[in-house]
Amino acid sequence: MKHLLLGLMLLFTLGANAIKVTHGPWICDMDSTSATIVWVTDKPGLSWVEVAPEGPDHFYGQARPRYYDVLAGRRVITDSVHRVHVTGLKPDAKYRYRVFTQEIVEWHYDDLVSLGKTACTDVWRGKPYTFTTFPAQPRDLTFLVLNDIHERPQFMKELCKDVDFHKIDFVLLNGDMSHRIRDQKHMMDAYLDTCVSMFATHTPLFFNRGNHELRDRFADNLYHYFPTNNGHYYRVQHVAGIDFLFIDSGEDKPDESIEYSGMVDYDHYREEQAHWLRSLREEKKVGRYPLVVFSHMPPTLKNWHGCYHMQKTITPELNKMNVSVMLSGHLHAFAYQEPNEVINFPNLVNSNNTYLLCHISKGKLEVDYVGLTAKEKKHFTFPLK
Ligand SMILES: [Fe+2]
Repeated sequence: MKHLLLGLMLLFTLGANAIKVTHGPWICDMDSTSATIVWVTDKPGLSWVEVAPEGPDHFYGQARPRYYDVLAGRRVITDSVHRVHVTGLKPDAKYRYRVFTQEIVEWHYDDLVSLGKTACTDVWRGKPYTFTTFPAQPRDLTFLVLNDIHERPQFMKELCKDVDFHKIDFVLLNGDMSHRIRDQKHMMDAYLDTCVSMFATHTPLFFNRGNHELRDRFADNLYHYFPTNNGHYYRVQHVAGIDFLFIDSGEDKPDESIEYSGMVDYDHYREEQAHWLRSLREEKKVGRYPLVVFSHMPPTLKNWHGCYHMQKTITPELNKMNVSVMLSGHLHAFAYQEPNEVINFPNLVNSNNTYLLCHISKGKLEVDYVGLTAKEKKHFTFPLK
């Protein structure tokens, strides 16, 4: 009996110390042949993802291709946030996956390292996660937009209770999901753990920063949790015949405002994006497919410096790009801007208490604007140019 108790205590102690997956995984980037998967463990370690096409075979007990967290030729073992880019996939194909991290027992010298226990997802649940790559050709497409949740994960869950995320191609978080970014736990509690439980293990979560994601001591770490296809927050994400253009709209107040303590330089950053937009156009990297723009701040619907500065920098470039529609947030209220002499495309603003369920079919973007009450419901149709 004494030995049994000691054995149980030892098991408990070892179990308590064993490395664990504490957050995720979530899919934060995807195209027709690759996906980026991110997760967090309670200790650093060597990380990889095992992937297999959907099929009748048992996922386990076979050698599966391993995709590692690699940075410039080295497999990363010093971080507890793990980012794996899985490549060489087939378009429009369903895959099973699981994630692994093996902890470091001792770093002896140079690169001689002893590795120990391995954490992985789903080993006790017996069911791997799945995702489906985007098709290479245009097809009908459905995506959901959330913004300005501002640390209300339970509200977000309630708002989306009737959404079948398995029928959604991607979810856009269009900024201000939290008030600020204080540390990892803050970000997880504010929205990310809830997004994982709702959809992000199987449906890609595309992140677009709001002004509140630019604040506090952990803000510079956000990119580690949402790596993108070009290393920038501003980017083009092509999905099934549509180019989605992500504008990183910056702060609302002037850079020299006292609350920024001289830390920010968003005027230059918006100019950098205007330059990038010009190069996209001149190098014909966009123009082949309809263009839908995401920007947390709407350029014309608020009388703040950031919006005015967008009108001088980013908006004139967008006006030359045949944009079909821009989707925004920030105002915490519904708003709609018809094309005018400042912007030559429509700008729909989602409130902080609603989502946009967007469906692309037959050359049109149909948008259901949905809240918890029937009176908030609206519908819009935007022809795609
Ligand atoms: Fe905002």
